[in-house]
Amino acid sequence: MKKLVIYYSYEGNTQFIAEAIANEIDADILALKPKNEMKTKGFMKFLWGGKQVVFREKPTLIPLDKKPQDYDIIFIGTPIWAGKYAPPFNTFFSSYRLKGKKVAVFCSSAGGSPRAFDDLKEVLKHNEIIGEKGFINPLQHDKDENEHQAREWAKKVLQDNK
Ligand SMILES: Cc1cc2nc3c(=O)[nH]c(=O)nc-3n(C[C@H](O)[C@H](O)[C@H](O)COP(=O)(O)O)c2cc1C
Repeated sequence: MKKLVIYYSYEGNTQFIAEAIANEIDADILALKPKNEMKTKGFMKFLWGGKQVVFREKPTLIPLDKKPQDYDIIFIGTPIWAGKYAPPFNTFFSSYRLKGKKVAVFCSSAGGSPRAFDDLKEVLKHNEIIGEKGFINPLQHDKDENEHQAREWAKKVLQDNK
């Protein structure tokens, strides 16, 4: 079984969880990187990012260096933006129509949002969803415990799907 973790992260939280998962289950890792990433970490990020969500923008990504279709088990991780998965995944999902994969989804957010999972599951409906897990700003709230949770979750998902 070939394993891949795909994520986008603007401020490092999703990246932190993605790396813990990849490390735990010995998976390849693939970061989505917009060509024109926003620069601000201040309040303007909410306007800039929120606008992209509302208009369902598809920011151009730096070409991917791995082929998701080559993998059997894929973990997909995104920050929640305006209650949805982040716009780089609009681009990703419209370019890569994943089918027949075993997919586990994880989100990082400031307060949680079940709707983001619904959206992810809808866009991934031609795959088998084998797990979902939310994290609340793991870099700021008990980083070690969040890392532990991520590792345990990934290990269990994998064991259940061997
Ligand atoms: C544009 C934007 C919109 C956001 N919208 C939400 C939201 O609707 N709900 C929420 O709980 N957190 C929201 N957040 C907070 C992020 O989801 C949260 O800080 C997440 O952990 C960031 O992940 P990252 O560090 O991988 O980028 C938003 C952040 C940004 C930049």
